[in-house]
Amino acid sequence: MRLREMRRADMSGIVALEQELFPEDAWTPEMFAAEFAQPSARRLYLVAEEGTTLIGYAGMMFTGGSQADVVTLAVTPARWGEGTGTALLTALVREAEKRGYEEVLLEVREDNPRARRLYLRHGFAEIGIRRGYYQPSGVDAVVMRKALR
Ligand SMILES: CC(C)(COP(=O)(O)OP(=O)(O)OC[C@H]1O[C@@H](n2cnc3c(N)ncnc32)[C@H](O)[C@@H]1OP(=O)(O)O)[C@@H](O)C(=O)NCCC(=O)NCCS
Repeated sequence: MRLREMRRADMSGIVALEQELFPEDAWTPEMFAAEFAQPSARRLYLVAEEGTTLIGYAGMMFTGGSQADVVTLAVTPARWGEGTGTALLTALVREAEKRGYEEVLLEVREDNPRARRLYLRHGFAEIGIRRGYYQPSGVDAVVMRKALR
């Protein structure tokens, strides 16, 4: 498995996985296109691939100031539990450190214990709840934070 930066050509595979994993709040191709339109200083999108097969992806937004945000993280279900999610998350956090950010924040669905465990294991703490954050489902988001220094 190796990580590399996301390209436009990855989009069809990513959108398919997005719909499979997040049926209620999947990103559309237009949402990814808007991210690609951002300057690279403001974002980092990575894919994980095995040979030429896409098995996961993740993205981080750098909005300036002190805080970077994990905006998406996904691994194809057939490959869960092999460390791909860990590799993607670690690469994003390292990049935030390299760019001088002080903290990483993210939101995760309250009903997603697997992802919440992954973040806890990587030093994120649960710092708050955003009620009804995910729409249209109305599921709450847990806000998590990792201090980098
Ligand atoms: C959350 C998600 C990204 C995790 O990806 P993953 O590749 O399975 O993550 P990892 O393999 O690094 O770690 C997950 C589990 O596998 C275990 N694991 C890691 N490496 C392993 C290996 N080589 N062999 C066996 N198990 C392993 C970890 O201990 C962890 O177990 P735990 O959560 O019970 O403690 C993935 O489940 C996913 O895409 N879920 C749906 C989308 C989603 O919820 N995204 C997050 C939105 S905020």
